[in-house]
Amino acid sequence: MWVRVIAAVACLLAGAAAAETPPPGAEGCGGCHGPPGRASSMPPLAGRPADELVTAMRAFRDGSRPAVLMDRIARGYGEAETAAIAAWIAGGGR
Ligand code: HEC
Repeated sequence: MWVRVIAAVACLLAGAAAAETPPPGAEGCGGCHGPPGRASSMPPLAGRPADELVTAMRAFRDGSRPAVLMDRIARGYGEAETAAIAAWIAGGGR
């Protein structure tokens, strides 16, 4: 019985350690783009290469890529913030 309780606690602790904290600003992306594996009407981002995301955000920011929404959203983030968010998303975050 105790063995089971200890195993359950160990599982919970391992889960908590694995759950990474998103960098500032990254929480908002999943609201539209959806968490990993969830179908959404927005283009899914989770698991996409970080450099691809950074390039897209830069193009949205400088207006070279036309957008309905992302141009305005991208302008809210600097290069360093964008890089941190892109790395987190590429690692499987949302
Ligand atoms: C309000 C909803 C919304 C939020 C919040 C949002 N996006 Fe988007 N995103 C869109 C839409 C809509 C598009 C399609 C381009 C457009 O028309 O703006 C898009 C497109 C993109 C694309 C291009 C994807 C592709 O495959 O072409 C990237 C990269 C992206 N978003 C990154 C982000 C990041 C990073 C965040 C968080 C900082 C974010 N988005 C937050 C709505 C959103």
